[in-house]
Order: sequence, then structure tokens, then C-alpha cells
Amino acid sequence: MTTTKQILRSEVIMEKYGKRLAGKTILITGVSDESLAGELALQVSTANPKLLILSARAESKVSGIRAKIQASAPEVQVRFLKMDLSDFADVRKAAGDLADVSQIDHLVCVAGVMMPPYCKTKDGIESQLAVNYLANFLLVKLLLPKVRAAGPESSVIIVASGAVRLGKMSFEDYNFSNGESYDPMVAYGQSNAARVMFVKRLGEKLKSEKIRVFSIDPGAMQTGLLRHISSEFLEKFIELSKTGQLMKDLDGKEFSYPPITGTSEGAATVITGMVDPTIAEYNGSYLYQNAVADQDLHTHVNDQDNWIRLWELSEDLTGEKFSL
Ligand SMILES: NC(=O)c1ccc[n+]([C@@H]2O[C@H](COP(=O)([O-])OP(=O)(O)OC[C@H]3O[C@@H](n4cnc5c(N)ncnc54)[C@H](OP(=O)(O)O)[C@@H]3O)[C@@H](O)[C@H]2O)c1
Repeated sequence: MTTTKQILRSEVIMEKYGKRLAGKTILITGVSDESLAGELALQVSTANPKLLILSARAESKVSGIRAKIQASAPEVQVRFLKMDLSDFADVRKAAGDLADVSQIDHLVCVAGVMMPPYCKTKDGIESQLAVNYLANFLLVKLLLPKVRAAGPESSVIIVASGAVRLGKMSFEDYNFSNGESYDPMVAYGQSNAARVMFVKRLGEKLKSEKIRVFSIDPGAMQTGLLRHISSEFLEKFIELSKTGQLMKDLDGKEFSYPPITGTSEGAATVITGMVDPTIAEYNGSYLYQNAVADQDLHTHVNDQDNWIRLWELSEDLTGEKFSL
């Protein structure tokens, strides 16, 4: 059932639907040895795609994953794409570097950062909002013609987080009064609310073209994302997760701390978004544990006026009109 959540390993989803990735061109951001994107790249490489474009800030980040893919699937072409998502000029440059790639079947935006100390990007935007969301808005805008060239069944996938349940877009003060009111968790929540709301509107706009668009909560995994998290915070999280402790979302609805899984389980929901045919009619939805989980979203994120306001703000902040 489309709305029945199930923690599954990627191998299970690949066994079921992996054939759909054969011969495809797949771009994945955020690739490094221990990251969710690194796991995803390894998993999808088993389906014999034509070309994997692995993106990171530095080529050294993808070399371990590339070596593993070349050893296990030598027929798959692997290409590195250098891109720093904290710099809009670099995102534009990276998109330009793909001029010779005529189509992208799956554009999978996984890279992200969680709860760093306050910092503004070169473009003057709080770093989590810029890296986790605005860079994706810009990248999708710039590469959409290539996804369209791939035709129906292609996908745009934006990895988000269960932190969306605690997050909203502060339209009037997205920069936290220049850092004075900065709360790293609130800012992470804001960036994830933005990711999910963007996908809602994009999915609606691309539905008639049958381009799949989903946001993904991959669950909780111990990856490089925890680099800014204190050991006390992490220990408390693990304890609350084990005991099934409840939290409340912005509507006051209770939900439990997510169980901690491996990256194979996290990547499974990303692959579900890319290829599971049973969810195609739910374009724009938020997926968790391999199921449509829109019922988990709160009022602010479901508000279509907020989707429109966010889109307009994103055009202003990136300096890129995105008409569809
Ligand atoms: N881990 C979890 O429990 C969890 C839960 C929910 C959602 N997520 C989401 O899953 C995604 C992947 O996270 P992960 O767990 O795989 O964490 P990770 O191991 O830290 O991977 C994140 C990747 O994003 C890259 N990145 C960060 N800033 C970047 C920038 N400015 N430009 C380009 N790349 C940048 C990192 O590269 P560098 O090494 O160069 O920084 C890294 O390769 C994130 O978007 C996160 O919000 C994770």
C-alpha cells in the first residue's frame, strides 16, 4: 500500500524496481564515502545505468565510491561534477559544465548540512537555507530542460528530513536577524520546510508531463551530517529514539522519534521516489519509509499560499526566474 510505511533495505527496492534504472543518466549531489548519497550511488550502480554523475565540492570526496563502482560495475560510466552549493555562481558553473549531457533521467539532490554555527553564504543567506534548499531550487531550474529531455518517468528528487515537522519558513526573517536570533535546529527545520514546499509546487506543475517529483525523509542515520552535533545531543536522541518517545509537530500533533537505521534503509526511500510506479499519482508528495507520508505534514507546509510565496522569494534570492 502506498501509504503503509515500511523500513526496507535498498536491495529490496532495487530487486523490485531497479531494472527501470538500466541505461539511465543519474545525477546525485552530496556524494562521499559515508554519506547517504554515496550509498545511493553504489545501490543504483547495480542496475547498469548508462552514466552516474557524482557531485561534491571536491573530487577526493567521490573517489572511494567511484573506485567501488568501477570495481563492481565497470561498464557504468562515472563522471565527477564539482559543485559548491553554498555559492550560487558555482551552481551555475556546474550546470554549465554539463552542456554536453543532453538528458538527465534522475536528478537527485541529496547534499545538505545540519545545524552548523551561524554563517551566511557568499550570497548573504543563512547557510542551511542556502545549501539545503535554495541551491536545489537553482539547480533544478537550470537542469530541468535536461530532465524534460529524458521524458516521462524521469525524476527530480529532493532529500529533506523529518525536521520538516518542526519547521516553517520565516518569510520576514529567514536570516534570523543576521544571526542574532539564530537557533540551528529552527534553521534546519526552516530549510526542510522549504525543501518540502518547493517539491509540492514543482510536483503539481510537472504532473502533466509525468516527471516524478518527490521529497524524501530518509530517516535517521549516523553519517557525516552529525559533524556539528554534540555527543550529548546525539546520545539523548538515540535514547529517545529507542524508548519511542513522542514529539509534537507545529500543529501539536504527536509523532515518535525516528528509529536509527543504516544508509541502505535511508537510500531505499530515495529509490522509491525515483522509480516505484505505484506512487506516480502522488506527484509532489513527501515520502517516508517507502510510502507517501503527506499526512505527517503540518498546516504551514500544506498551505498553498506559502508554496507560492516561497517560490517568489526563491526567485528573488537566487536571481533566477523559474516560470513553468
Ligand atoms: N543522516 C540523517 O540522519 C538524515 C536524516 C534526515 C535527513 N537527512 C538529509 O540527508 C541528506 C544527506 O545527509 P547525510 O546523512 O548523507 O550527511 P553527510 O554524510 O554529511 O552528507 C552530506 C553531503 O552533503 C555535502 N555538502 C554539504 N555542504 C555542501 C555544499 N555547500 N556543497 C556541496 N555539497 C555539500 C557534504 O560534503 P562535504 O563533506 O564537502 O561537506 C556531504 O557529502 C541531507 O540533505 C540531510 O538533510 C539526513
